Amino acid sequence: MRVGRIHNYVAARAAARRALPRVLFDFIDGGADDERTLAENEAAFARIALLPRQAAATLTPDLSCTVLGARCALPVALAPCGGSRLVWPDGERALVRAAGRCGAAATMSTAASTTLEAVAAAATGPVWFQLYYPGERSAAAAVVDRAAAAGFGALFVTVDMPVRGNQERVRSAERVVPPRPSVASAIRFAPQLCARPAWTARYVRDGLPDGVTVRTGGRPGAPGAAGVAVPAAVPPPAGAGRRPPVQWADVAWVRDRWEGPLVVKGILTAADARRAVDLGADAVVVSNHGGRQLDGAPATIEVLAGVRASVGPSTEVLLDGGVRRGTDVVRALALGANAVLIGRPYLYGLAAGGEAGVRRVLDLFAEELARTMTLLGRARLDDLDASCVAPPQVGDDARWWTRS
Ligand SMILES: Cc1cc2nc3c(=O)[nH]c(=O)nc-3n(C[C@H](O)[C@H](O)[C@H](O)COP(=O)(O)O)c2cc1C
Repeated sequence: MRVGRIHNYVAARAAARRALPRVLFDFIDGGADDERTLAENEAAFARIALLPRQAAATLTPDLSCTVLGARCALPVALAPCGGSRLVWPDGERALVRAAGRCGAAATMSTAASTTLEAVAAAATGPVWFQLYYPGERSAAAAVVDRAAAAGFGALFVTVDMPVRGNQERVRSAERVVPPRPSVASAIRFAPQLCARPAWTARYVRDGLPDGVTVRTGGRPGAPGAAGVAVPAAVPPPAGAGRRPPVQWADVAWVRDRWEGPLVVKGILTAADARRAVDLGADAVVVSNHGGRQLDGAPATIEVLAGVRASVGPSTEVLLDGGVRRGTDVVRALALGANAVLIGRPYLYGLAAGGEAGVRRVLDLFAEELARTMTLLGRARLDDLDASCVAPPQVGDDARWWTRS
């Protein structure tokens, strides 16, 4: 489709729904259990009112910032999302190209169908690598060292996926989500594939990648394959093949091995944030995995101020989950985030138009953020502090938060 027609995230989501087989759309769009945390991520942003400072507007606010040592044109980066190559051919490289052209940073997921070296080589802007700790040190060392050699600028260790959440929208469809390419799944999903002939043709031309089931290193067993396993949606029988969940001792080990900025992703409490920082993390991501893991976990924007208060001003704090508009970016920065990550919005753009679709989504964030800052009478990101949001929603933790 012509991505210029996408005028907001709602239109991007609708375009993705039209483009993808239903099981794949549900895989991206869905959350865990009753999807309460998924819904709450967005709803909690909507409850925070914004307070403009009138007659103080700048028409061209400065959106640039430094995040994890990288200069970015806007404080919105792409979150690590597995399965991108199922959404669009060569999806992982399309993402980093799109981000680079918009001056945004991109995070590559462990669960990718393209080697991390190929993704790093395609990048024209800041790229970070996300690690699902593979359960044993030798496998972890191989991936961490390769990410360093490939030139990734930061390493994210995701700590909120000891096992996959219960995503019931897709669980009923297949025991492994997204489905692996096979004759059986082709027959099973034939009606959905026939209903989306353009996606199906692109997917076949791309060589039937199996998305999150192919690991960082390429096809399992291929030379250089990293062998980092992502636990299946439905546990295999009797614990067979399951990796032990990541522990803080593993985070400490990664800290010793990785020399660049280390980020712990999946933090929801002040205590865990402090623990990550005490172990040497340079930054944390306040995240509930987009409501895909623990249903009932709090909306990320609601715990942000407490996390910021616990780590103090010198640790970078990123946030993701439910960021859909430039106004949400402002709310997150006002409550203590240095930058935000987006997941589903860019996957919708990718589904609608590949690299151009992702660029469109990032451009919309930049436009909306600039307009919101003008309306708020704030010229620079450093001007976004607790004074931008209505006091009832701010809470005690955030009252002290000022940037300058
Ligand atoms: C389809 C999909 C795949 C994801 N895969 C990963 C992953 O491989 N690693 C990870 O740390 N987070 C993963 N996430 C979580 C995102 O990094 C991010 O935390 C979340 O999408 C943010 O919420 P949002 O989608 O509401 O923006 C995934 C999210 C989605 C939607």
